Amino acid sequence: MTAIDRQKAEGMGQKAEGMEQKAEGRGQKVEEVGEAVQHSTLNPQHSTLSSPTLDARRPTPPPLGKLYGLGIGPGDPELLTLKAHRILTSVPVIAYPTMESGKVLARAIVADFIRPEQLEVPMPLPFSVERSSQPHYDAAAETIAQHLAAGRNVAVLCEGEPMLYGSFMYIFNRLAGRFDTEVVPGISSTFASAAMLGAPLTYRNDVLSIMPATLDEATLRDRLAVADAAIIIKLGRHFAKVRTILDELGLLSRALYIERATMPNQQIRPITDMNPADVPYWALILIPSQTRPQ
Ligand SMILES: C[S@@+](CC[C@H](N)C(=O)[O-])C[C@H]1O[C@@H](n2cnc3c(N)ncnc32)[C@H](O)[C@@H]1O
Repeated sequence: MTAIDRQKAEGMGQKAEGMEQKAEGRGQKVEEVGEAVQHSTLNPQHSTLSSPTLDARRPTPPPLGKLYGLGIGPGDPELLTLKAHRILTSVPVIAYPTMESGKVLARAIVADFIRPEQLEVPMPLPFSVERSSQPHYDAAAETIAQHLAAGRNVAVLCEGEPMLYGSFMYIFNRLAGRFDTEVVPGISSTFASAAMLGAPLTYRNDVLSIMPATLDEATLRDRLAVADAAIIIKLGRHFAKVRTILDELGLLSRALYIERATMPNQQIRPITDMNPADVPYWALILIPSQTRPQ
């Protein structure tokens, strides 16, 4: 399978126009993950050489930098929190995931706030369940760790809420034990979509289930059959499977489709009108609860 095939398979290659951008060629300092490892300064604190004379001459190591996981919301830059904006505009290093195509959604959301003197660290990730992302996260974490060890604060951009299916979680798991870390919550696409669709999600004792469309058919059917309210994310190439299940469970009339919620090219369409080949990765289906408040 070629990179282009994989991209198409994930449903991310369609509609390349919109908010996604290329990181390169925009005049900012961009340091690719992997290459950066050779240039970064290792933390002198880790040196094993020690003698009183050498120690006296050695400069005091800089304090370690702080790692931020920045939730930047679902797409509309006005949905950035004040805190995320403050940190974003003050850190010297900004890291963000990129797709193999070079498209960068997280960066596009905050592009207007990034200053030319801030160093950018794109983190190429495969975004595919078929292949292990582990080496990519290892490389990204190592690059970020070297900036932190050199005393530079690093903000990792995360679309929506960082702790909900966020790629930042894998950086967090690798580095939070080693460096001071702060996670800034963001508005999740799931909840932004309910607002855009005008769909109250849950009442009183209702239980909301959030599930990825990447689950196998039987598991998805079982989960949806018992859900009061549900949000199905990571649609892309899994759309046809999801629509079949919704039809079987009699849920099609309640289910709402939205893509690129809160972005300028947001689309809300009847599920039955959708051509599966046109469904992008940045789309979800929401099934609101049926109960009503008293
Ligand atoms: C890996 S999850 C990340 C979720 C993210 N952390 C959040 O809180 O929104 C990616 C999935 O979220 C959904 N998604 C993210 N942004 C979206 C948007 N603006 N409109 C619709 N769905 C979106 C899509 O289903 C996409 O496949």
